[in-house]
Amino acid sequence: MKIVTRDLFGKDFKWGVSTAAFQTEGSAATDGKGPSIWDVFTQQKGRIKGDQHAQVACDFYRRYEQDIALIKDLHIPNFRFSIAWPRLLPQGDRTVVNQKGLDFYDRVIDSCLAQGIEPWVTLYHWDLPHALELKGGWSNRDIVAWFCNYAELCAQRYGDRVKHWMVLNEPMVFTGAGYFLGLHAPGHTALKKFLPAAHHAVLAMAEGGRLLKGLLPTAEIGTTFSCTHVEPASSKNRDIRAAQRADVLFNRLFVEPTLGMGYPVEDLSVLKGIYKYVLPGDEERMRFDFDFIGLQNYTRELVKYALFTPYLHAALVPAEKRNVPLTTMKWEVYPPSIYHIIKRFDSYAGVKKIYITENGAAFPDTVQDGKVNDSQRLHYLQEHIAQVLRAKNDGHKVHGYFVWTLTDNFEWAEGYYPRFGIVYNDFDSQERIVKSSGHWYAHFLNKSLPLHGCP
Ligand code: GAL
Repeated sequence: MKIVTRDLFGKDFKWGVSTAAFQTEGSAATDGKGPSIWDVFTQQKGRIKGDQHAQVACDFYRRYEQDIALIKDLHIPNFRFSIAWPRLLPQGDRTVVNQKGLDFYDRVIDSCLAQGIEPWVTLYHWDLPHALELKGGWSNRDIVAWFCNYAELCAQRYGDRVKHWMVLNEPMVFTGAGYFLGLHAPGHTALKKFLPAAHHAVLAMAEGGRLLKGLLPTAEIGTTFSCTHVEPASSKNRDIRAAQRADVLFNRLFVEPTLGMGYPVEDLSVLKGIYKYVLPGDEERMRFDFDFIGLQNYTRELVKYALFTPYLHAALVPAEKRNVPLTTMKWEVYPPSIYHIIKRFDSYAGVKKIYITENGAAFPDTVQDGKVNDSQRLHYLQEHIAQVLRAKNDGHKVHGYFVWTLTDNFEWAEGYYPRFGIVYNDFDSQERIVKSSGHWYAHFLNKSLPLHGCP
């Protein structure tokens, strides 16, 4: 077994940690912030496990300085966080610009820079202003202009200090879970909502990227995609074809139009309906030459043919039924997935650079004698980082790795139960306890301590 150290990744490899505004900030209605679709969704009974909400979350809005100091203590050089659109623009458009919201991210960015930490900003991590959802949200084509106005404001305000930008976080998840499955805000369950939402997200992603690049030519502009290594459950033809259809949704739908390849409709015919929303000139507008793409990977999926699944005729074989190691989310622990994903996305012509912008795991952590010994997470991170090195050594263009996440936080529809942090959060007292995985990451980054488990 080879020994892996930070040095093997080279000095330019970016190491970081990722968070998102809605999952951490709290102060949901403080200092002029408008409601987001997630504020509204979490108030609806039965949407979130235990009807939990994120009005306080990790209280990052008030504790950002301590949390950034913690990032510094952990020797993590790059911090990815998102800006809450309704904190800057409570109505979604620029009729009201909330000065206190603008000031907050000034303080976050300045505090990062004062600690020697590079801020990486995501413009949209799912918290759409509710006022815009009332006008149709992502299914209204006007969202492309609304989003560009918001992006322009962010670039003008923070572009002097922020050199790394991500336009969207996981468009497949917020359109799929939000507009088709109804599991995420705003809770819609219709193909006629999902298809336009998907197309408008593709347009907003490219237009947003172009706008940022125009205003900030020396900044690195990217966007992030959820991605999962998909395998057929058997060698039967119908399972292989089912896996190909599922793969369109898991991995292809958003990256391919961005690269100028159009929508992958030949492999999933229900998507042909998207062309109803594609206007003349859109094919070109959908393209943007991103400086990097962020890949976010947690697990792999096995797929089988399923007659009764509408449109897709495919179903996941639950990891629980496969006798494999599981996380709290019931996701399989399968480190080679991240290797396959890097290899796969790197094979697209036009992908210039890849960062892993999220990877991590939830496990049932407990505090004992003031300590959290999260050996499963530590092992998970080590194994995944080793697979990233494997991809890099194979010559793939992977240039960074960000752990999801800093502190345990609000895990969307799952509430607070899944703990993903390398820092434990006591949600009653807001006390932070660095877990073993956090201590390990700090040592790995600082002293280049060996990481075991390289394949
Ligand atoms: C991603 C998402 C994050 C986080 C993570 C863990 O899909 O971007 O916000 O929740 O999954 O489930």
